[in-house]
Amino acid sequence: MDIGKVISTPDGPSPSFFAFAIAKGKKISKDQFVRVSTEEGTMVAMVENIIKTNRYYANPETVVEADNLEQLFHVDEWEFLIAEAMPLGVISSGQVLRPTVPPSPGDMVQTIEGEVLSKFLGFRERGIHIGQVLHHSVPVRLSLTKTFQKHLAILAMSGSGKSYLTSVLVEELLKRKKEDGRVAVVIFDTHGEYTGFAEKPPAGVKDFSGSAVNVVDIRIPVPRLTAREISAFTSLSAVQVAELDKVIRELEGQLYDFRELAEEVLARKMADKTKKALYRWLMELHSQRIFARQEDIITRNEGEKEEHHLLKELVRPGRLVVFDLSNYLSTRVRDLIVLWVTKELFGMRRRGEVAPLTIFLEEAHNFIPEGEQEVPTKWMFETIAREGRKFLCSLVVISQRPIKLSTTVLSQCNTHIIMRVTNPYDLKHIGESSEGITQKTLKSLTSLQVGEALVVGEAVRYPVFIKVRQRESWEKKFSDLEEEARRYEESMDAEKAEGVEEAFL
Ligand SMILES: Nc1ncnc2c1ncn2[C@@H]1O[C@H](COP(=O)(O)OP(=O)(O)OP(=O)(O)O)[C@@H](O)[C@H]1O
Ligand SMILES: [Mg+2]
Repeated sequence: MDIGKVISTPDGPSPSFFAFAIAKGKKISKDQFVRVSTEEGTMVAMVENIIKTNRYYANPETVVEADNLEQLFHVDEWEFLIAEAMPLGVISSGQVLRPTVPPSPGDMVQTIEGEVLSKFLGFRERGIHIGQVLHHSVPVRLSLTKTFQKHLAILAMSGSGKSYLTSVLVEELLKRKKEDGRVAVVIFDTHGEYTGFAEKPPAGVKDFSGSAVNVVDIRIPVPRLTAREISAFTSLSAVQVAELDKVIRELEGQLYDFRELAEEVLARKMADKTKKALYRWLMELHSQRIFARQEDIITRNEGEKEEHHLLKELVRPGRLVVFDLSNYLSTRVRDLIVLWVTKELFGMRRRGEVAPLTIFLEEAHNFIPEGEQEVPTKWMFETIAREGRKFLCSLVVISQRPIKLSTTVLSQCNTHIIMRVTNPYDLKHIGESSEGITQKTLKSLTSLQVGEALVVGEAVRYPVFIKVRQRESWEKKFSDLEEEARRYEESMDAEKAEGVEEAFL
């Protein structure tokens, strides 16, 4: 459909910019894609701005002095819409090239067909379906490999739809058919938001419970920890680590928990001070109740019994394992679990013992912070960010504070999905760490609605604004403050009323 004509302006048309006058009655939005034919092929451009003009109002003297302009002339007939467009590429014999020649003034600008846009952006027929291109009814279907293999970052301020989008991504991974290639999925769920996948949903909502499992508790096997790893969670001195290392080496092949290890330390010859400090630390770790002689991953789906597993058995293609971290109040315990599980998973993946794997990390800035801050989990995730692609172990980092997230990890994420962000520091950080984002695009992030996002990087040929699709899985809603406060008081009233009745009986 024709929507306007290229006009001649001081800056264009050029291979990187052109403006066009929008035909009367035609509708077009900022961030919409359009096409225009050039001698190189079909040029695809994005509308970056729309301006209204009217030559009767161009001159301030006339506007101020002639207060009866509207009676004298048909001024409204001279209002025009001008769109400013940025050429992105040219489709020529099925290939997408960089534009090197401008369109001509007078060339017709047209809307773009869904199929052409889909191919232009690099979408795949059987790709990950996460929504549709904003202002176009074109489904966004991203290549699994391009989106995940080199890691994905989901960044936005609180409440803009990161977890919702994450659920949509998880649905897509779980729905994949064996013949299309399936990965195993693991989520570190800080707030217990994803446990709904493993539960039976209300009638009419798609049931994923057959391919999801909730981990409710875990026992880390002490004999598989090195002295250095133990020291990451305590404040052992170099001497203490060396002494502990000796004890652990001597115990190789045996089963022991931290209490037993502490007792072994007591039985050894070493400086009294070192011995006492080590004993104290080991007993302190023992009291955390997440360590044992042998590995045990305890799962429980709603309405079912607890089950005990090894991590290796739980991680399977097309299945989601949710580590519900909301059960643990201590950040140290939470970090210990995330570190141990991730280290084991990456190790197993390196040895090819488990399926290709995608790990989703909510609140990623807490586990992989930027700067000097010593967090035990940081080196592990930085290692996966650097080396994971070779071993098909990919990361999805999700964060509402991009500026606090490790730049090493962020720059290794080849695809970024960014939702609404208004904090200027976060915007600057995103601008520096996401390739291909212009200042204008960056500015658009501040006005996105909930559920709208910008996809940049390897998964798409050009940055594209999208509207995330509706989720199919059951969304476990957290009640809001007013609702919960009302419910609490109602239940108290009911209890009181019952109490009164009982008193009368
Ligand atoms: N695409 C969408 N369509 C419909 N509703 C959505 C969409 N995305 C988000 N929402 C709704 O907006 C609210 C906030 O979304 P969500 O919890 O995903 O935000 P968030 O970015 O994860 O926030 P936080 O940083 O606090 O975790 C939720 O109630 C969710 O249902
Ligand atoms: Mg969230």
